[in-house]
Amino acid sequence: MRNLKIAIAGLGRIGRIHLGNLCQMKGVEIVAAMDPMEEGRQYAKNKNVPCIVSTYKEMLETTHIDAVIICSPTDTHADYVEMAAKAGINAFCEKPLDLSLERVVEVLEVVAQSNVKLMLGFNRRFDKEFKKVKELVQNGAVGQPHLVKITSRDPGAPPISYIEKSGGLFLDMTIHDFDVARFVVDKEVEEVYAKGAVLIDKAIGEAGDIDTAIVTLTYTDGTMAVIDNSRQASYGYDQRVEVFGSNGMVQSNNNFMDSHKLYNEKGIHAALPLHFFLERYKEAYRIEIQDFISSLGSDSDVPVNGNDGLESLKIGLAAIKSLEENRPVKLAEIC
Ligand SMILES: NC(=O)c1ccc[n+]([C@@H]2O[C@H](COP(=O)([O-])OP(=O)(O)OC[C@H]3O[C@@H](n4cnc5c(N)ncnc54)[C@H](O)[C@@H]3O)[C@@H](O)[C@H]2O)c1
Repeated sequence: MRNLKIAIAGLGRIGRIHLGNLCQMKGVEIVAAMDPMEEGRQYAKNKNVPCIVSTYKEMLETTHIDAVIICSPTDTHADYVEMAAKAGINAFCEKPLDLSLERVVEVLEVVAQSNVKLMLGFNRRFDKEFKKVKELVQNGAVGQPHLVKITSRDPGAPPISYIEKSGGLFLDMTIHDFDVARFVVDKEVEEVYAKGAVLIDKAIGEAGDIDTAIVTLTYTDGTMAVIDNSRQASYGYDQRVEVFGSNGMVQSNNNFMDSHKLYNEKGIHAALPLHFFLERYKEAYRIEIQDFISSLGSDSDVPVNGNDGLESLKIGLAAIKSLEENRPVKLAEIC
């Protein structure tokens, strides 16, 4: 089979990870990259990408592309996916697809009509800890799931300039947890009740966002989930999930820098968790993009599809409404 011709849009934090992984992959040829900033273009040049441009339109028009990897800021995703679909090009798009439900529905319609594949970047599904939890729940190891607990805390908040364009904590950060909540028990959410506060940095509040939250979810069958978020955990990235059911419980743990334990008169000491997403999900990002590429070369579906993006967005929008109105909000209210 011939090599798949891949292009990449946006070479910031996450674009560089995906480009690095794609460069290592067999059956893949990176044919083009775009970034409006010189720094991003220079990064692509250092990776020997043959065609490097500063606009997306130019990139799509310049060379034949089988699939595009969209790693640009959130407010470009919907347009870029739509333009790719109309040109018959498959797309992998970082989360979220857009902050507007109407726009996501519109784009998914174009994707469906264009008969191209679209995968969303919910990387935690490819992490071995989360995968194991799902596998055990699916195999009935904990019986009927009753409760899901997700802890998701960042080591530090992003710059205010990022927060201002991010869509807020629920659509930028918790959206991963909403996806994990659906993924681990394979159930859909019916109702959301969110509480949030600014406890870390007043500037985050001034930018119209929160930095700390608790969200409870009720699934259609009555199973419940609770998610806790913080933008600043002093000990590093904290990523855990637990599913409690009629026959037991499964928990996943953080990944640590190493597994040593030092015992002395002051106590028992261990290494900190891996610092942040680039370290914790290094392997998950590799598997995620490999699975996307594999799905292009076969008849199989992409492992995370547009509907997964849509459902997580609905939960996020319901969480925003719940916080604003201080009441539980049914997903049906925002559809
Ligand atoms: N799945 C994950 O774990 C994960 C992690 C981080 C970010 N993300 C998502 O990826 C996206 C990018 O985040 P990031 O942290 O890499 O941001 P970033 O700011 O580090 O990088 C963004 C890059 O896009 C470039 N850019 C700016 N405008 C552009 C445009 N119009 N077209 C193309 N490129 C443009 C910038 O020059 C920069 O190089 C966001 O939507 C974010 O939500 C996902």
